[in-house]
Amino acid sequence: MKNLIQILMIIPLVISLGIMQDKSNNLQVLDYESERDLKKYMKSISKDLGVKCKFCHDLNDKSIDTDHKNIAREMMRMQMELNKSFFALLGDSLHVHGEMPQISCWTCHRGSKEPQLVRPKE
Ligand code: HEC
Ligand code: HEC
Repeated sequence: MKNLIQILMIIPLVISLGIMQDKSNNLQVLDYESERDLKKYMKSISKDLGVKCKFCHDLNDKSIDTDHKNIAREMMRMQMELNKSFFALLGDSLHVHGEMPQISCWTCHRGSKEPQLVRPKE
């Protein structure tokens, strides 16, 4: 009888651990339905910056925060904020882009981790 109770108590624990492993555990900004969509987004921003995953991630555990990852998170916040507020309103007034987001990492980075402040000399 005692054994049975112990087994019954363990079942919910095992199930919830399983669910936790399926889901990302340190997403503070992004909201993704599936791991696949998240990976696709990550590949895309890597190309926008011209870097590999390891520029931002500890490859043993991608949920660990690194200096570059923290900067990237702030960049994501900035980009979302600008699209939601500034450019959404501007888009309305110009009647050009409608609801589309206007800026991405590429808009500034153009395949480089260091956006240029000054136009290159011709
Ligand atoms: C420019 C920096 C940057 C690059 C490059 C990058 N990531 Fe990320 N990644 C982030 C940030 C920032 C987060 C956390 C986002 C949040 O807090 O919502 C994240 C989160 C993740 C997570 C979720 C981790 C968790 O908490 O469980 C996975 C998985 C991931 N990245 C995979 C990748 C893969 C695969 C690549 C390469 C194709 C990649 N990332 C390249 C910045 C980056
Ligand atoms: C409005 C322009 C702009 C956008 C949009 C933008 N960035 Fe940046 N980003 C910058 C600038 C400027 C710097 C350089 C800051 C510095 O040197 O201190 C930078 C620096 C960075 C760095 C640090 C690079 C290094 O060498 O250490 C990372 C990582 C980064 N951005 C990620 C991103 C990601 C990811 C996105 C998209 C979610 C993004 N940025 C969107 C302007 C932008």
